[in-house]
Order: sequence, then structure tokens, then C-alpha cells
Amino acid sequence: MLKRLSPDRVRAFRRKVYRYYKANGRDLPWRKTRDPYRIVVSEIMLQQTQVDRVALKYPEFIKRFPTIRKLAKTPVKDVFTVWQGMGYNRRALSLKRLAEQVVRQYSGRVPDDEEALRSLPGIGSATASSICAFAFNKPVVFIETNIRSVFIHEFFCGRQDVSDAAILPFVGAALDRKNPCRWYNALMDYGVMLKKKFGNPGRKSAHYVRQSKFEGSNRQVRGAILKILIRDKELKEEAIIQKINTGPERVISLLNDLQKEGLLKRSGGYVTF
Ligand code: ADE
Repeated sequence: MLKRLSPDRVRAFRRKVYRYYKANGRDLPWRKTRDPYRIVVSEIMLQQTQVDRVALKYPEFIKRFPTIRKLAKTPVKDVFTVWQGMGYNRRALSLKRLAEQVVRQYSGRVPDDEEALRSLPGIGSATASSICAFAFNKPVVFIETNIRSVFIHEFFCGRQDVSDAAILPFVGAALDRKNPCRWYNALMDYGVMLKKKFGNPGRKSAHYVRQSKFEGSNRQVRGAILKILIRDKELKEEAIIQKINTGPERVISLLNDLQKEGLLKRSGGYVTF
């Protein structure tokens, strides 16, 4: 393993990644904008949903909520409706609350520093950094799954359990500070190619987690509850228990969770948004 990256090695690495990107870069809808609101929408969608699915949903979402003010004013139920098919509905609620907070606190303008971004609902440190890179073209140093794959493949070949702390200095040294936005797009596409060609080098990461099985999971049942609620608007708890058919205790426990997280309301035996 290299202890330090020589300028020659950095140059060769960048050239390779950019050459790949020029010839094979993906034409993704959120790459056509620098509107920070739109970048926020895409990054929150990309946290837990595959690129292909996000590429279909993102244009619909933006068409329906073209500005952060529009999203802030829309009832949560309508946001969930558009979010259908994306999974992890809590993100839809976070995005809506984020819009409200940005309108209230920042006059509708998404802040451009990592700390302020991290204080907003639904934004962790990787998302705060990617927004800084893609919306504001700032030279931030960060790791997400595809970036991790590239650096493990390139600089930690043959090693197991590579920590993000070990990778981060390499990310910083390789960063194209003149155009961080283009660089990170290129890196992500290069990472996707490596995964296809060599399997997932990210599995050698100390931080690798497989997504759990969807069939029969709480995630699936939570999604099913929200789906019937979107359709029927207001339902008795018993009606939900009947429709879901996975045992009353489990449904009630999930209704409790969803209520606690603010995804739905319950009163007098009825469930609504
Ligand atoms: N994963 C996280 N952010 C992404 C982006 N902007 N493009 C592709 N994949 C991503």
C-alpha cells in the first residue's frame, strides 16, 4: 500500500477516471442542474434507492414540487403520494420538514456549508458533503459507497476491512479542487463500472453493510400501511390490521413507530396523515 500519493500517481489516476467519465459518464437528470434544492432532492433520494429508480422518480417529484417553497407548502400526504415506490418513506417526511425549515430559517435558500446542512432533517454528513460538491462545487472530502469502491480497488488492493479513516486522506489527495462537482460525478461512475466488472470492492470495507431482505420485513409492512392510508386517507385501526394481515400485534407496534416518527396520526381508533 502507498503511504503517500505522488503527484504523478494522482495525475495518472485522475486522467484514468476522467477518460472513463468522458466516454461513459451517465446522463442523469440531476446532473443538468446546480439548483441546490434540486440537488438536495436527488441526494436524499439516492441515500437508499438505486440510481435507476431515482432517475424515474426525480423528474416527477421536481415537476410536482419545482421549488422549495412549493414543497414546504404541500401537505405531507401529497408528498408521500409522489414518493410511492421509493421506499424508506421517512425520507419524504424529512425532505418536507427540511423545506419548511429552509424557508423559515434561510428565506428559502439552501445553506452552502456542511454544518448548517447537517443540522437539517434527513441530512447526515455524507449527504451534506455531496450537496456541497454537487450544488456549490466546493472542494469537500467525503466518502460514499461508490467512492469507497474506487479507492479500495485502486489503493488498497488485496486488503480486508479497510476503514474510511484510512481511505479519506487518499480522497483528499486525489480531489480535483478546480472542479469538485465534475470529479465526484466521475468517481461515482467509475465506481459503478468497477463494481460491475470486479464485483463490489466495497465489501472489503470495514463499513460494508448489506441491505436487509425486503420480503416480510418491517420495512415492507410499514410501506404497505402507508400505501393503504394514501389511498383511503382515513382508516380505523382494525381495518388496517385486517388489510395487512400479519397479526395485530405487529401492525400495532409498527403503527406506534410510524406515529412516533411523525409519519401518521392516530386518535379515537382512527389513523390519518
Ligand atoms: N449516490 C449519491 N449521490 C449520487 C449522485 N449524485 N450520483 C450518483 N450516485 C449517487
